[in-house]
Amino acid sequence: MESSMSFDLVFFGGTGDLAWRKLMPALFQAFRHGKLPPGGRIVAVAWEDFADDTYRIWLKERFHDVEGAKRPSDEEFARFAVLVRYLRVDLSKPEDYVRLRQWLDGPRDVEGHGADSAETVVLYLATSPHLFPQICQQLGAVGLNGPNVRVVLEKPLGHDLESAQEINRVVRSVFSETQAFRIDHYLGKSAVQNLMALRFGNALFEPLWRRESIANIQITLAEQLGVGTRGDFYDRTGALRDMIQNHALQLLTMIAMEPPSRNDANAIRDEKLKVLHALKPFTEDNVLRDVIRGQYRRGTVGGQPVPGYQEEAKVPSHSHTETFVALRTEVQNWRWSGVPFYLRTGKRLAAPEAQIVVNFRPAPHRIFPGANVPNKLVIKLQPEDGLELHLLAAKGSGPSEALSPVCLDLDFDEAFAENRVGGYERLLLEAIAGRLNLFVRSDEQEQAWRWIEPVLRAWERDNDISGGPRSYPAGTWGPAAASALVARDGFAWPEEQ
Ligand code: BG6
Repeated sequence: MESSMSFDLVFFGGTGDLAWRKLMPALFQAFRHGKLPPGGRIVAVAWEDFADDTYRIWLKERFHDVEGAKRPSDEEFARFAVLVRYLRVDLSKPEDYVRLRQWLDGPRDVEGHGADSAETVVLYLATSPHLFPQICQQLGAVGLNGPNVRVVLEKPLGHDLESAQEINRVVRSVFSETQAFRIDHYLGKSAVQNLMALRFGNALFEPLWRRESIANIQITLAEQLGVGTRGDFYDRTGALRDMIQNHALQLLTMIAMEPPSRNDANAIRDEKLKVLHALKPFTEDNVLRDVIRGQYRRGTVGGQPVPGYQEEAKVPSHSHTETFVALRTEVQNWRWSGVPFYLRTGKRLAAPEAQIVVNFRPAPHRIFPGANVPNKLVIKLQPEDGLELHLLAAKGSGPSEALSPVCLDLDFDEAFAENRVGGYERLLLEAIAGRLNLFVRSDEQEQAWRWIEPVLRAWERDNDISGGPRSYPAGTWGPAAASALVARDGFAWPEEQ
């Protein structure tokens, strides 16, 4: 990144949860790590009546919630806060966008001096997505869409294919595709970087990365948390839209894609798109068999009793919204033909665990006694960030001994402790630098919607017949049918192996 690049990073929704919980703390970390280019301003935009100083005080109070070591000291916050400005904008008023434009074009330092307009302007829409079209149109109307401008769009981008296409249509009428940075914060996680490095920076795995060697691939994004205060949003959304359409499918594309010819946004995204096109379509015949949905009921998580989903605040008592999904799919091409890909996500599950497990085929011929346990590679996204390679080894007690499972374990936090960068921190820095590699292109996003739509439609039809999702006790791994889905092919989820 150019060290002296001037930039304005504008957060629409500057007083919202996302801004203070994720974005501002991530920027603070970037600042603390010395990664933020020095010529920058961070501009919070919202309707509340704050001045720069009162917003800073408000933000500082919110920073008390930032976890332990990531929390700034008073002195650090004061240095960071100098970069933070506040502008009151009513998003429905065209004249407020004119004022925003004038402010961005005006003098850059607090005393009213300094060069005009930043070299780069990043407009981050951290508002409710239904406002995106309106905000984009107003930005276009005041000319805040020039070549130095980028727009960052937070998920959820649409509720289905049609609404996603409508948002994209409006965004495209104002910004070019190269100015549009669609966030999937999973792409900012270090493990995803390492997945790319593992596959395309090393020659070791490529010859094995195919149907001849791999039996199945399992992606699990499990949370222990419930829906918290987001009951109304979640009830309109559900796990399929909230986690599978975006995070899980993005991980699947990274695992299954062909090597791109260059480390370049379009080369990467072209390959990811091909994977999405190759996914086995859901049809009336296979959807209820291959996609299991669940909803948590009361249970115990981490030793504490927790309420069921339908007892959560702002959730209707007869809701059919799924809080768990497990599905089976295939990537229908030469590399992956016949290899099942299982995706699973849920709230209030037994452990907070996000990981990708690549299960290899067993050794073709056994010369040792004992079980022929197949190798597996585990790419751990969280809570730890690392890689495990599970092998069989001889402990050394004799030539006819049974082999024992061993694990090569690489902990990236330990290996690279000083240089660890959080997901939002990475994505914000990439957006400022104008690199699109870790952002989702509109055609990828629309194809992901196209693929899950038959599931949404089948569930709507099925609600009256089956009464909605299967229930599972909070603190477990979801409905038993999710285990049966994998067992049908002769496999098991990691915790059952
Ligand atoms: C968000 C979902 O996109 O991802 C949330 O809307 C979910 O429901 C969150 O909790 C999970 O993200 P992470 O990074 O905590 O795994």
